[in-house]
Amino acid sequence: MTSISRRNAIKGLAAASTVLPSMTSAIEPTSKPPLLSRINFGSCCHQDKPQPIWASVLKQDPQLFLFLGDNIYADTHDMNVMREKYARQTDNFSKIRNHCDVLAIWDDHDFGANDVGADYPQKKESRDLFLQFWGDDPNNSRHRSNDGIYHARTYGPQHQRVQVIMPDLRFHRQAGEKVNCLENISRLVRNMGPYAVLDEQRSQLSPQQWQWLEQQLLQPAKIRIIASSLQFLADYTGWEAWAQYPGDRKRMIDLIEKTGAEGVIFVSGDTHWGEISRQSENVPYPLYDMTSSGLTETWSQVSPNRYRMHDKFYAQENFGELHIDWHQKDPQIAMWIRDINGQVRLSHHIHLSELSFQPDHTTK
Ligand SMILES: [Fe+2]
Repeated sequence: MTSISRRNAIKGLAAASTVLPSMTSAIEPTSKPPLLSRINFGSCCHQDKPQPIWASVLKQDPQLFLFLGDNIYADTHDMNVMREKYARQTDNFSKIRNHCDVLAIWDDHDFGANDVGADYPQKKESRDLFLQFWGDDPNNSRHRSNDGIYHARTYGPQHQRVQVIMPDLRFHRQAGEKVNCLENISRLVRNMGPYAVLDEQRSQLSPQQWQWLEQQLLQPAKIRIIASSLQFLADYTGWEAWAQYPGDRKRMIDLIEKTGAEGVIFVSGDTHWGEISRQSENVPYPLYDMTSSGLTETWSQVSPNRYRMHDKFYAQENFGELHIDWHQKDPQIAMWIRDINGQVRLSHHIHLSELSFQPDHTTK
């Protein structure tokens, strides 16, 4: 396909957005919207650290960049401090924001502070700062009265439509629990985090967000990127992840089954390392979760994950890439985790048909 980078083309991409009726843009596309083929993403970007990685991201000429959370390290209850930290990030993000369309979701550190959730007292003020920084139209649906910043967009023509779904895992997140001291010590030697698996009633999402999610999965699309600030598939790290809320994790898989949504790929951040996870049992079709973290952050004690592909990870600065070759009859999707120089460190290729319901699948 021809390149559709830069702002003019992105106006066409954005005009192709089709979401819930209440969220539909008044702008109707006047011509066939361009294909979306090149998507980059990343997370965990400290405002006070050097960010040479952007030069390598820009070399990939993305049409869309997804910020997956911890986009600043606010870690405060003082909104003046948060505002000032966003301001420090403005120049760092200016080139990517001028280059292509950008969508963002938050995680704990840009929501407010380490691992906080629904109880964070300044969450509405923080939401206002987030939406202001990311340039959201004050009339759009993310300015909800008592709910989070979840949202979705679609790109491309009908038969090659890519949907990006961005859940909010912070605004209504019920509090986690840590394991006891002895258990924590035994986890330390296994590089695991301190969090216990919660009962199935606890959730990260409000009932309204679950309804919204179901409606989104019913929208027509060939590929659905669920952009989650926390790892969806990883099992079990002991850190914040969907595995900490097994009721949510199961409900999401059940929702994919119930809605008949094919083409789902998860992308996630938060961990400070990159990896590709794949789960093939107890799911309607193989599920992938590409984790990229961080744009500035690194890690030295990578946790276990039974779904990590080939047991390979990359724990230095990295960003992710999804490259869709629509020209093949069965479109090919390349999954890459690239390092600070743009070199591919982790790689996997699939055909879109792999992400369709298997006749004899079972989910438990
Ligand atoms: Fe985080």
